[in-house]
Amino acid sequence: METKLKPVDTSVWRKKPLAAYEADMKKSELKRVLTRWGLTSLGIGAVIGGGIFVLTGIAAHDWAGPALALSFVLAGVACTFAALCYAEFASILPVEGSAYAYSYGTVGEIFAWLIGWNLILEYMMGATTVAVSWSGYFEKLLHLFHIEPPIWLMNDPVTAQEKAAALRATGVAVPDFSFAFNLPAFLIVLVVTYILVRGIKEAASTNNIIVIVKVAVVIFVIIAGAFYVDTTNWHPFLPEPVIDKTGQQHYGFNGIVTAASIVFFAYIGFDAVSTQAGEAINPKKDVPFAIIASLIICTVLYILVSLVLTGMVPFKDLDLKAPVAQAFADKGLTWAVYIITIAALGGLTSVMLVMMLGQTRVFLGMAKDGLIPPGLFASIHPKFKTPWKSTILVGIIVSIVAALTPIDKVSELTSSGTLLAFAMICGAVWLLRVREPNLERPYRTPLLPVIATLGILANLYLMYNLRTDTKISFVIWCVIGLIVYFTYSRKHSHLNKPVEE
Ligand code: ALA
Repeated sequence: METKLKPVDTSVWRKKPLAAYEADMKKSELKRVLTRWGLTSLGIGAVIGGGIFVLTGIAAHDWAGPALALSFVLAGVACTFAALCYAEFASILPVEGSAYAYSYGTVGEIFAWLIGWNLILEYMMGATTVAVSWSGYFEKLLHLFHIEPPIWLMNDPVTAQEKAAALRATGVAVPDFSFAFNLPAFLIVLVVTYILVRGIKEAASTNNIIVIVKVAVVIFVIIAGAFYVDTTNWHPFLPEPVIDKTGQQHYGFNGIVTAASIVFFAYIGFDAVSTQAGEAINPKKDVPFAIIASLIICTVLYILVSLVLTGMVPFKDLDLKAPVAQAFADKGLTWAVYIITIAALGGLTSVMLVMMLGQTRVFLGMAKDGLIPPGLFASIHPKFKTPWKSTILVGIIVSIVAALTPIDKVSELTSSGTLLAFAMICGAVWLLRVREPNLERPYRTPLLPVIATLGILANLYLMYNLRTDTKISFVIWCVIGLIVYFTYSRKHSHLNKPVEE
């Protein structure tokens, strides 16, 4: 009998049939080893890092004052809406592509592509900026041991020249150099890449150890710091608004919102759990659990740390680069500075680990659909069962960009990509409820239209509050993404292959 083929849908809104996900899952070569708490640990591993150890300083000092805790609440609430929506999707489609995969099956190819493209900002750019922060903390650690490496070995060429000029201006003699390379950032990314290529079990075990240490240190900061809180530092909790020369308001309600969009970075990563669905033992139940649990745990820790920090030090005296460690140094607790610095280094390492892990799994999902070259991005190592070529490629790009470019200056782009992806996911989960109401949903987002609407509004609002330069760079990034889509991905999409009726 002659087989009839369906005409190919050429629309940019074509959708991947949900049955195709089941087929992909059956064919998956990844190892299913991750438990419920292993996944939660990955979430916490990706979340606690530079945001809490670095950005709290500037957010409180310049924008929120003691009300920084409210900024964490605000950013946490925006993330909670997104997390609840992510959880429903993860329970329906426990596949490795995360938000990209969810929207391919529900909204359409171009929307999914844009989410996947923005996840590159979240995961790859996130990992790169965190590698630079890691190098900064490593320099501090060396400094604690009175080791002062040359500027050109610890910074990218642009930052190195800026730092040298600043030092010379204060009368310090800094020898000329024509080459600079952030060696610690480069090396730490290579170490993380090696662990990721070796296997998901190895990556998860490394992450578990780091998570235990960093959560212990964060709890230590909260408890030990509480003894040094001077409640007069919290008054006024909401400092009087100040308008700067550019017309921007610091402190007051607007200041809290700006600080929320800055510390939003601290929450980035809980969604990376969903990229590991292909390696979870019981993804339909455990991935939603891990997404929500890791977010709740981190939110509580963040709110407490920010209260302690602004209680320990008047917000105007907070250090901008290492506020947590410096608060303890100011109290004469030098030994605590060692502990916090080492924990920050560990914490930043696990953020990189999970971000790069997430990136390769999103690429894997996209490559399986033909939108990016499968030979490179979907090739699984026969022994380690990891997407090794893609992991090495991501490792090379992240290490070189971290070593040679002033990427930290554009790190807000990480937040913009993530915020849009979160808003899009809230919309997509709602759409799927309307289109496929009878689909089996092991986890259902409560009060869906309300949560999805609030999620869209809250995430877009935080995005709107980012700096104008960030917004312009973000638009350029999206335009590049669309060019790639129309010149490569659309033509190579597996949805171009005719299927039987
Ligand atoms: N949430 C991660 C951090 O704060 C990206 O480092």
